[in-house]
Amino acid sequence: MKGVVLKDKRNLGVEDLDDPISQNGSVILSVKRAGICGSDIHYWEDGRPKGLILGHEYSGVIIDPGARSDLKEGDRVTALPLSPCGICQACRTGNLQYCLQTWDYATGLSLTNPGALASKLSVRADMVIKVPDEVSDEEAAMTEPMAVALHAIHLANIKVGEKVLIIGGGVIGLACAMFAKKEGASFVGLSEINSARGQKAIELLDVDKWYDAKDEKFIDKVRADTIDGYDLVIDCSGNDAAVTSALISTRPGGTVILVGVSTNPITLPTVVAVMHELKVKGAIAYTKEEFQTCIDLMAKKQIDVLKFLSKTVGLSEVQASYEELTSGKSAAIKILVDPNK
Ligand SMILES: NC(=O)c1ccc[n+]([C@@H]2O[C@H](COP(=O)([O-])OP(=O)(O)OC[C@H]3O[C@@H](n4cnc5c(N)ncnc54)[C@H](O)[C@@H]3O)[C@@H](O)[C@H]2O)c1
Ligand SMILES: [Zn+2]
Ligand SMILES: [Zn+2]
Repeated sequence: MKGVVLKDKRNLGVEDLDDPISQNGSVILSVKRAGICGSDIHYWEDGRPKGLILGHEYSGVIIDPGARSDLKEGDRVTALPLSPCGICQACRTGNLQYCLQTWDYATGLSLTNPGALASKLSVRADMVIKVPDEVSDEEAAMTEPMAVALHAIHLANIKVGEKVLIIGGGVIGLACAMFAKKEGASFVGLSEINSARGQKAIELLDVDKWYDAKDEKFIDKVRADTIDGYDLVIDCSGNDAAVTSALISTRPGGTVILVGVSTNPITLPTVVAVMHELKVKGAIAYTKEEFQTCIDLMAKKQIDVLKFLSKTVGLSEVQASYEELTSGKSAAIKILVDPNK
């Protein structure tokens, strides 16, 4: 089969790979769609680990159901990329997302479990979830980023009427904006450095206003819209400038949720959090229930995720898609890959 392999910094190559075989009851899928995520971009920019096959958000059709006797060949599915140990305190309380083992063996984020940027995929049986007929392959492949946003919004505990600021208008930020509105936020702002994405966010209607993150008057504009700052700020970028802007645009006593990932340590003015008694919370991934909730919301047409889909490409266009997504100029939000195109 063909697959896309991380070769070096900002360098992916299409290669011939061995077909996966079912091991320890794993389910073998023919991949229908795989998403390119902001986290994948961090690995791509870093060029490590070499040989990684990315793709942790995907949909597929079962070739071999492995240990899943409730599923059969031809069933349409998606899966959580997590690999929890099943015995630790996190696992026993349903918080698979912060089990210490879960990311070491995650599908598409570790060398041990190759991801969905390949024609076929082997997935841990207990992570596979059936997709109902009402949910398309494209929607199913976007369950994962929707679940990330839903989890962040659950942790944020928004009160009706609160004002929410999102830092970073990628799919995670925009999905957070969408769920914040559903939870009753009265005003949702977005700070974004890419003006094409800022404008796109306004078109998608979940954001009331976008601020140019590079604007020297950014904080003055925030104050003009909120008096003393936003009740809740969700960082969906994960760099020094972004998290700093999250801290300074939160009102005293307000909440900051950190969703953006930085693989390197970052420097922050923590004095702002101290002086304003901010509540700062990390948010990682989702629970199985939140993942299933996103599928149910799509099936009932209660959320429209296809508005985030910019285009679908084949394996040979993946490298160019990464370049487009990091150009800082593209309005593209989510690019999906059809590895069998
Ligand atoms: N915590 C989790 O479970 C989880 C899950 C998925 C993704 N992530 C992380 O969340 C972040 C967002 O993911 P995505 O797929 O939407 O990524 P993305 O790369 O598509 O979006 C990030 C956006 O942030 C913008 N940005 C960068 N610096 C900024 C700044 N200083 N101010 C304002 N905007 C800025 C970029 O222009 C970009 O549009 C990434 O860091 C990703 O690794 C975290
Ligand atoms: Zn992701
Ligand atoms: Zn565990």
